[in-house]
Amino acid sequence: MPESVTITDNRTGESIEVPITNGGVDASAWSKLLPNVWFLDPAFSTTAATESAICELDGEAGILRYRGYPIEQLAERATYLEVSYLLIHGELPNREQLDTWIHEITTHTFIHENIRKRFLEGFHHDAHPMGILVATVAGLSTFYPEAKAIDDPAVRLEQITRLIAKMPTLAAGAYRFSQGMPFVYPDNSLSFTENFQSMMWKIAEPRYQPDPVLSRALDVLFILHADHEQNCSTTAMRVVGSAHADPYIATSAAASALYGPRHGGANEAVIKMLEEIGTYDNVDPYIAKVKAGETRLQGFGHRVYKNYDPRATIIKRTADEVFRVTGQNPLLDIALKLEEVALQDEYFISRKLYPNVDFYSGLIYQAMGFPQEMFPVLFAIPRVSGWLAHWQELLQQNQRIARPRQVYVGTPEREFVPLHQR
Ligand code: CMC
Repeated sequence: MPESVTITDNRTGESIEVPITNGGVDASAWSKLLPNVWFLDPAFSTTAATESAICELDGEAGILRYRGYPIEQLAERATYLEVSYLLIHGELPNREQLDTWIHEITTHTFIHENIRKRFLEGFHHDAHPMGILVATVAGLSTFYPEAKAIDDPAVRLEQITRLIAKMPTLAAGAYRFSQGMPFVYPDNSLSFTENFQSMMWKIAEPRYQPDPVLSRALDVLFILHADHEQNCSTTAMRVVGSAHADPYIATSAAASALYGPRHGGANEAVIKMLEEIGTYDNVDPYIAKVKAGETRLQGFGHRVYKNYDPRATIIKRTADEVFRVTGQNPLLDIALKLEEVALQDEYFISRKLYPNVDFYSGLIYQAMGFPQEMFPVLFAIPRVSGWLAHWQELLQQNQRIARPRQVYVGTPEREFVPLHQR
């Protein structure tokens, strides 16, 4: 059987055979036969915007792999910084490469004092930390004008290092400012997630030493959130990157997309939903409301996964470990019951709606003491590795500027009517 499709233009009878390569049909072949006929695919549901070698996702089978490694193995056996190296460089680091990478990241955690004084402290006292993050990441662009040399691999790597390293500093700084608490400088003797917790929670103690279980749990959550192929924020990164904007600007655009409640804000919505349900007995009536189309079950369903999100399975395990340290989140029982009811219900079964990564992550973050406004920020800290891996890949592919077409459905040409005649 030939690996191709044949398209016939019934207006002319002309046919063209287009090969299927790696599961994709080359749209440029289509456009040769049918110039000025566009695929109408507003949410890119069936459009592959690129070839990519970073993340493999099989939504039907519930498979997620970074550079070929199953997410389960990475979450079990790697650290977030090992995974960030893997995403950026394509291979797992050896001992020496990892030590160098950790050293490079650790020595770039500080931010310019003016970012702290003029940017972080310039916001209104109750500014949302995600808004602060988006703005300060864009602001970094003005501190590193050399970042515009995007064709130079060494310059690119320097900015990648800076961005991965500075995200926790900016994130914690945004939180501290919103709480009216003093900024905590990075402690470079701590690991990546330990240092982040120190910058978040340190008060008067000379050195903050977080619980190792919580540090590892955060590391696992960072691994799970590090990449997810062509999701909305990564697409924003690629689109802005394709215009050859510098990586700080492109990352800020990606973080802006992540700020949306349909994307990075869903775990916050899960907590709100669980709080609204409130008691075990309210689960069934809530499910009935969902089935009646009055609301959605937050943390359920996914554009690509039509199976249990493999990240949700790992997160559920991590939640047990965290709750052993923090005490159980009282909302957990409601979440478990909700999941049990939904997974047996025809409405959810027939639509292939399963828990996604956000269903349990908010419960963990809440138990660790993070306020809900920080949830999308916690998503952005590790996702920057994925965004930058895709940005680098895009430049290495020398992709043209992203410029989709449209199907115009507005008014045809008409004469201008002067103001006094309208
Ligand atoms: N609760 C109830 N029904 C749902 C849900 C849900 N969470 N998600 C989808 N459906 C139904 C939807 O009503 C539709 O039913 P019908 O065919 O009868 O109209 C059908 O399932 C298909 O839904 P869709 O809106 O076409 O699916 P989509 O691929 O456009 O949306 C989604 C994907 C994630 C936006 C959606 O499932 C949703 O809103 N989920 C809740 C929010 C959420 O958990 N988001 C986090 C996504 S994972 C993190 C990330 O990658 O950013």
